[in-house]
Amino acid sequence: MTRSVVRGIGSALPRRIMKNAEFEKLVDTTDEWIVQRTGIRQRHIASEDETTASLGEAAARAALDSAGLTPADIDMIILATSTPNNTFPATAVEIQERLGMSGGFAFDMQAVCSGFVYAITTADLYIRGGQAKRMLVIGSETFSRILDWNDRTTCVLFGDGAGAVVLEAEDGEAALEQRGVIASSLRSDGSQRDKLYVDGGPSTTCTVGHLRMQGREVFKHAVGMITDVIEDVFDKAGITAEDIDWFVPHQANRRIIDASAKKLGIAEEKVVVTVDLHGNTSAASVPLALSVAVERGQIKKGDLVLLEAMGGGFTWGAVLVRW
Ligand SMILES: CC(C)(COP(=O)(O)OP(=O)(O)OC[C@H]1O[C@@H](n2cnc3c(N)ncnc32)[C@H](O)[C@@H]1OP(=O)(O)O)[C@@H](O)C(=O)NCCC(=O)NCCS
Repeated sequence: MTRSVVRGIGSALPRRIMKNAEFEKLVDTTDEWIVQRTGIRQRHIASEDETTASLGEAAARAALDSAGLTPADIDMIILATSTPNNTFPATAVEIQERLGMSGGFAFDMQAVCSGFVYAITTADLYIRGGQAKRMLVIGSETFSRILDWNDRTTCVLFGDGAGAVVLEAEDGEAALEQRGVIASSLRSDGSQRDKLYVDGGPSTTCTVGHLRMQGREVFKHAVGMITDVIEDVFDKAGITAEDIDWFVPHQANRRIIDASAKKLGIAEEKVVVTVDLHGNTSAASVPLALSVAVERGQIKKGDLVLLEAMGGGFTWGAVLVRW
């Protein structure tokens, strides 16, 4: 029996910080509206020389450093992203090359904001199936490149960044008291895909397109989807909200985070919040928040950590990890 244990974590952010006030010059909005409706105060925006691959590489290197490993120790990379450097090849192989890896394999995974939760679940299965021993699971995004900067209902919400973890195979079955990935639950519902999508693509418009969202509709479904998969994970692991040490939700909107925690009965002081600093960084949001929580000294070895995300598709999912 094999299980997957988190060995290291790291993150990377673009140099440029964009505060809410800057949007007042671009669209009809105010800092006050953005803070009140979303909790976002600032986000990082990639410059021309910063890409999903370069941010992903930087986060991966930081995760390897924290694990005391080098790229040569890694045999697999999954990159969760919806903003790849190119339509193909996968940006994961570019990161593989940037890291100087000559072996192993790498691929991208696309589940929009749920990408990292999907990727961790997939990575865990590769490890438990004996297909990989040490892998990088990365979430990296440059959503600023697909935003309509004239649309106030979306452009204020998103930011760029990357986060990565090193997962390693360890002998022993996944169990609640052991370090490692314990349980996960994934869902999608393609009938809702018009609520949050990009209006372009290689096979339809031959363009990249821009992000479009029915914000109120997404909001309406968010808390129900989040609590659905979390309750499933609680059932699978045989725990309740009281057992978890840290809740690391997708960082899209402070009101969604607070409402989900409240509905689940998760105490406020256990909730990791970084949406004020990063905005919604899609697949990068959960690993970025994890990285910040570790840096802040919140999440420590042995803590029971609940990850959750939801996004375009709709896709949604949750993962329980003993850190
Ligand atoms: C987008 C969101 C913040 C909007 O908040 P809301 O309270 O639902 O606001 P509404 O959409 O009802 O809009 C209220 C008003 O604010 C306006 N508005 C929208 N964006 C604005 C902005 N940036 N600045 C000022 N006013 C804005 C709307 O046009 C609307 O005006 P109207 O009443 O004259 O039509 C909210 O719906 C949300 O967070 N949805 C989920 C989005 C999300 O998390 N997406 C990612 C999931 S991965």
